[in-house]
Amino acid sequence: MDTVALKSEIDLWLMEYFSKKGTYNRKIYDAMHYSLDVGGKRIRPILCCTTYNIYKKNYQNVMSVACAIEMIHTYSLIHDDLPCMDDDDLRRGHPTNHKVFGESVAVLAGDGLLNEAMSIMFDYCIGKNQNEIVACKLISDSAGPEGMIGGQIVDILSEGTKISYDTLRYMHKKKTGSLIKASILSGAILGNAQKEEIEKLADFGEKLGLAFQIKDDILDVTGDENVLGKNINSDIDNNKTTFITTFGLEECKNKCKILTTECLDILKDLKKDTKSLEDITKFLLHREV
Ligand code: IPE
Ligand code: IPE
Ligand code: MG
Ligand code: MG
Ligand code: MG
Repeated sequence: MDTVALKSEIDLWLMEYFSKKGTYNRKIYDAMHYSLDVGGKRIRPILCCTTYNIYKKNYQNVMSVACAIEMIHTYSLIHDDLPCMDDDDLRRGHPTNHKVFGESVAVLAGDGLLNEAMSIMFDYCIGKNQNEIVACKLISDSAGPEGMIGGQIVDILSEGTKISYDTLRYMHKKKTGSLIKASILSGAILGNAQKEEIEKLADFGEKLGLAFQIKDDILDVTGDENVLGKNINSDIDNNKTTFITTFGLEECKNKCKILTTECLDILKDLKKDTKSLEDITKFLLHREV
């Protein structure tokens, strides 16, 4: 599986999606398209297609669902950057959505992306079977109050306070881990993976998602704004409780390494060709973006 080529296919699919839409409402598509199109690692759709590809070879079959996940993620970034949330003005190397289109349009652009993602997933399910519905429900739930929004609410309410380790883990697993885990599991379910394999991949997704947010916290402190493409020290400026404020930088780096090793062990245990997922797991540990 060529991850670079896959990323290009995802970029192209997303670039073309909104190009012919809109009349008097064209502005909303421009704003939705802007944040999608300016960049991003596309790690969630890549994880969905790559996991599917372990079981079935034609990953193009799940491209629309994978890109719907990226739309949900991009919506979460637009809202996360708003002045009433993390108040950031740089994202994916460009001014944040509200800096370009204003706050009202940015709120609507986020709403629009979330709704469009749901519509794409419903379309995908029409005329198909139970597995497709199960996978899309999982993605939808992972973005909701028991998933990403559950984490975001704890994040916002915890600003300027001290929280327990359990609360911190909950926050990280939910605000970032849920959608990453769902990206992997939706790929597995759509690929008709066995129940025991799905359980192992759930464990993998949970650990990968947690490592991803710890690394995000690390990069907020150590990252280079020009490379990272978003504001650094955002967490400190917002008085956030993070893994860094709780454990310090070195311990966080250590935790990421341990979680990565655990992820790789789970993949080995699957006894399938998981080379591409292993490469992505290692890439995420060493990423500077
Ligand atoms: C950043 O996500 C926000 C988190 C959920 C931690 P990514 O690091 O995947 O951002 P992009 O999509 O590459 O811009
Ligand atoms: C964001 O966490 C998680 C989301 C659901 C968007 P952060 O607030 O740490 O993400 P960044 O660092 O702004 O990308
Ligand atoms: Mg945030
Ligand atoms: Mg933020
Ligand atoms: Mg962050």
